[in-house]
Amino acid sequence: MTTRARGNWGPARAFALCLVAVAAWAGTAHAQTPSLVATVPASRSATSGYDLDFTLPTQSKSGCLVCHGDPDLVRLKAGKITSYYVAPDEYGSSVHGKEQCVACHLDFAYKLPHDTDVAWQVTAKTACRNCHDEQFVAFGKGAHQRAVDATGTRASVEESKPLCGDCHGSHAIQKLTESKAGQAAMHASGWEVCGRCHQDYWDSYDDYYHGAAYKRGAEDAPACWDCHGWHDILPAKDRKSRVSEANLVETCGQEGCHKRSTVDEDFVSSYKDAIHGKRQAKQDNPVYRLLRKLFGFVLKG
Ligand code: HEC
Ligand code: HEC
Ligand code: HEC
Ligand code: HEC
Ligand code: HEC
Ligand code: HEC
Repeated sequence: MTTRARGNWGPARAFALCLVAVAAWAGTAHAQTPSLVATVPASRSATSGYDLDFTLPTQSKSGCLVCHGDPDLVRLKAGKITSYYVAPDEYGSSVHGKEQCVACHLDFAYKLPHDTDVAWQVTAKTACRNCHDEQFVAFGKGAHQRAVDATGTRASVEESKPLCGDCHGSHAIQKLTESKAGQAAMHASGWEVCGRCHQDYWDSYDDYYHGAAYKRGAEDAPACWDCHGWHDILPAKDRKSRVSEANLVETCGQEGCHKRSTVDEDFVSSYKDAIHGKRQAKQDNPVYRLLRKLFGFVLKG
């Protein structure tokens, strides 16, 4: 999928800028960093395309950032200008700022040019398991865990289930535990984290107290994962699911939500269907259906 575009202005320009970046980087002469050796095959000029044979001095992120720290590192891919820039400040202030790039990009040993055949996105979005065992184990118990068949490949429907990096992103991951800022940022991204794949439940999450308030940006309205959990999300009919009838009293009565003393079986059974059901309840109402038939163009949703 990553055929390299040759003979266009993109590679040539980025190539030249890479050299500038290398020169600038080498020029800053960091005490502990050995100088970078860049060799361009003699048969090639700076305008003939991208085929660099860099010998990186050290297995460290500064080696990767020689090229990827350049805002002008772009390539023309399938007619679209694609950026390969990784903002060093953003990365540096993320929770992984001290980690090596190859901690996630396991396919990118210090070998250049890069191997373009590897499924590097999948690798990068799952390498997390090597350091976050607890979350990986919890994830393995949930509905988003992918089933692997006997040949080790995945059925195509499985492809649409999220990997770690699909929910968390890549270079700007923030602290979440005991971090109001990190949690607030995630809370505000409910559509990207869940809704984009569960459009129907995103749309139907619109009851007055929860969904409607959440979509208006209310910080104290529950995000999808406040009810469903996050790594070990289960179907509602599974008795271990947080939204199964068996556990709703506990889920609704969790700290920061409803006062435990006011939550009982009656409370949850009378309200649970409203959370995702307002739209359906409306559509099932015969008066509403008649009005919709008559004035369908006015009544939306
Ligand atoms: C000599 C410059 C250079 C260095 C050093 C470099 N890269 Fe790259 N990298 C590139 C270019 C150019 C591309 C765009 C490749 C293409 O045209 O498909 C790229 C693409 C990538 C991609 C996206 C791959 C794809 O197929 O879309 C990743 C991930 C990546 N590099 C990671 C790294 C890591 C990790 C390091 C350090 C181990 C590193 N790079 C070092 C120049 C470099
Ligand atoms: C915590 C894991 C992680 C670390 C550490 C990491 N990356 Fe990535 N990187 C990712 C993921 C995930 C993607 C996105 C894959 C996708 O969505 O297509 C990505 C994408 C990329 C891309 C493709 C362009 C883009 O921005 O989507 C480049 C280039 C890249 N990374 C380079 C680097 C470099 C250089 C470093 C070190 C400074 C680094 N990465 C560190 C996880 C990581
Ligand atoms: C379906 C989306 C989703 C997927 C997939 C996902 N996470 Fe999470 N993750 C979340 C949410 C939501 C939170 C909690 C946010 C909060 O605290 O407000 C979270 C929290 C975390 C935390 C903070 C500590 C904790 O457990 O609460 C870590 C670390 C983490 N995830 C790593 C991972 C790893 C590793 C994977 C892959 C095995 C993964 N996540 C897959 C959504 C996801
Ligand atoms: C090389 C090891 C390593 C890899 C690989 C790695 N992480 Fe981390 N991650 C860490 C460390 C170390 C921390 C900081 C822990 C701390 O500060 O308590 C961290 C913190 C986090 C946090 C914040 C945790 C919290 O409790 O607030 C999240 C979320 C997270 N990582 C997600 C990911 C995801 C998603 C990936 C893969 C795309 C990933 N990590 C890959 C080492 C790693
Ligand atoms: C990348 C797409 C994607 C993302 C993001 C995603 N899901 Fe899912 N989710 C799926 C797929 C695919 C299934 C499995 C459906 C099946 O097996 O028929 C699933 C299953 C579920 C189930 C079990 C019920 C069912 O229909 O099987 C629940 C509940 C759920 N997801 C909630 C969430 C929540 C909450 C989030 C955000 C924290 C989220 N999902 C993020 C794709 C996604
Ligand atoms: C206030 C708690 C709460 C919140 C927040 C919430 N849900 Fe639900 N969700 C439920 C309950 C209860 C059910 C089971 C009853 C039903 O299907 O209406 C459910 C059912 C589901 C199902 C079907 C599960 C199955 O096994 O059939 C999916 C998928 C789902 N929710 C996704 C989401 C998404 C996406 C969000 C965020 C936009 C979200 N939910 C927010 C409580 C919640």
